[in-house]
Amino acid sequence: MQTVEVVPLLDQVSGAVSTAIASTRPELAGADPLVRRSEHADFQSNAALALAKRAGVRPADLATDLASTLTVGSVALSGPGFLNITLGDRAMWTQMAARLGPGLGVGRPLSGRRTIVDYSAPNIAKEMHVGHLRTTILGDCLARVLAFLGGDVVRQNHLGDWGTQFGMLIQYMDEVPATAPYDELYRASRARFDADADFADRCRRRVVALQAGDPATLARWRDIVAESEQAFHAIYARLGVLLTPADSVGESFYNPMLADTVADLVAAGIAVASDGALVVYSRHVLGREGEPVPLMVRKSDGGYGYDTTDLATIRYRVRELAPDQLLYVTDARQAQHFALVFEAARRAGWLPDTVDVAHVAYGMVLGLDGRPFRTRAGDTVRLTDLVDEAVARARTVVAEKNPGLAPATLDRIAEQTGIGAVKYADLSTSRTKDYAFDVDRMVSFAGNTGVYLQFAHARVRSILRKAGATTHAVDPEVPLHPTERTLVLAIDGFSTALTEVAATLEPHRLCNYLYELARACTAFCEECPVLRAAEPVRANRIALCHLTAATLRDGLELLGIAAPESM
Ligand code: ARG
Repeated sequence: MQTVEVVPLLDQVSGAVSTAIASTRPELAGADPLVRRSEHADFQSNAALALAKRAGVRPADLATDLASTLTVGSVALSGPGFLNITLGDRAMWTQMAARLGPGLGVGRPLSGRRTIVDYSAPNIAKEMHVGHLRTTILGDCLARVLAFLGGDVVRQNHLGDWGTQFGMLIQYMDEVPATAPYDELYRASRARFDADADFADRCRRRVVALQAGDPATLARWRDIVAESEQAFHAIYARLGVLLTPADSVGESFYNPMLADTVADLVAAGIAVASDGALVVYSRHVLGREGEPVPLMVRKSDGGYGYDTTDLATIRYRVRELAPDQLLYVTDARQAQHFALVFEAARRAGWLPDTVDVAHVAYGMVLGLDGRPFRTRAGDTVRLTDLVDEAVARARTVVAEKNPGLAPATLDRIAEQTGIGAVKYADLSTSRTKDYAFDVDRMVSFAGNTGVYLQFAHARVRSILRKAGATTHAVDPEVPLHPTERTLVLAIDGFSTALTEVAATLEPHRLCNYLYELARACTAFCEECPVLRAAEPVRANRIALCHLTAATLRDGLELLGIAAPESM
């Protein structure tokens, strides 16, 4: 997509304040202009307060000097030295006219930068459950935002598709021909493994056969992986998650590289023997007694586990995929695991300083009782059931609001709003916090919900359909209504919100932004008639509606949420 970057008003004002600082006090050149959106004016700068001491003057005096040299908008002084900056109506309309171009004037600041996003990663032969909700939704949102900003995003689904449990499962399926979901067979095989020592022996031999590449055993394993993956991809398709089979690079892929990876660590003197096992002791992460925490590189029985696989994975990814940034989206409980993996990879020279790496950690999904989310029977909640419940509730709420909908339309909108509600509730919570899964709150038309955003979008789309205009133009000489002003400033903040998400890896910033935009939009719809307005006000308002709808639609899409035309 060819896009022309439009510099946000915030950046324009910041630039002007920086210039004023440099010209009035050359010794302060380069200082942060400290400009932000404000209730008192369009923007406010704190620079005079922050810099007065360094300049050896009173804040109010520095503010006066800055105000007299500022070349943007009109400036008023307030408080002990705030600069309140209000832009002219013409500048605001001109900015909107510029954003009418392709891509809403959002640039591609991340072009040429490759990011690997490791997310979702469910385990084969188990169903996706509530524990995979956040990684799937957060990872997908980050992948979308980085790509929208021009980044080269490589998605990786690190499926749990290898391990001794498969020997057990395959042995059980051979001995007890029955068709049941893998989950159940898996539980049954574990029970028999614990109860029957001969069976346990046969399972161990089966693990050896699998690892040695015995064709019949491998074929069984492949069937299991294929069937599980199909189920995962059915859920991804329903949820609108970008992951495709091509993104699946499971643990088994790294199996042939484990021995080499370990040999590298031994040769470098990084891995050391400990009770018959091989471990890497951390230099930074200490246990409760101040002892260095070990990363398990090879178990005493000679086997390799999760730690070794992640070491081989990071080594492979940096070498073969040449990323600038590596992201791992998993829950906060894996923080220590990744800290140890990253540290070992740096020491081994696999991860140069030029490559950024981050564990994108998140909190837990809780039930309304504040405890880990479970079914009434105390089981983990299957992802499908959770989504079904939200869709059913959304259906009720949408039908109440809009009783005339045809059943097929209602079904479609219920699916879009129910899934959107789940995603939005997840993404809008600060990532590292736990949150309670509260379906009623999620599907509400009021408050900071996905449904509220979708409704605001549908409302503006309905105005646009009635207006019938296909091209949009803005007359910059029209006076700006205060509610329009708030909306213009909100629309203009889109790229700033996105670059913040990319920098902090916190999708809730995009949610907060879109919520503000939707509120500004709702106020605009209530206070500023569009279709009944006289020209040229009407054309300007239609252009504003068009920009609002496009920004809401793109924003929702970046959250992975559908934007229905009507609801
Ligand atoms: N399969 C793991 C789980 O379900 C998550 C894997 C995350 N990615 C990784 N590279 N370790 O907990």
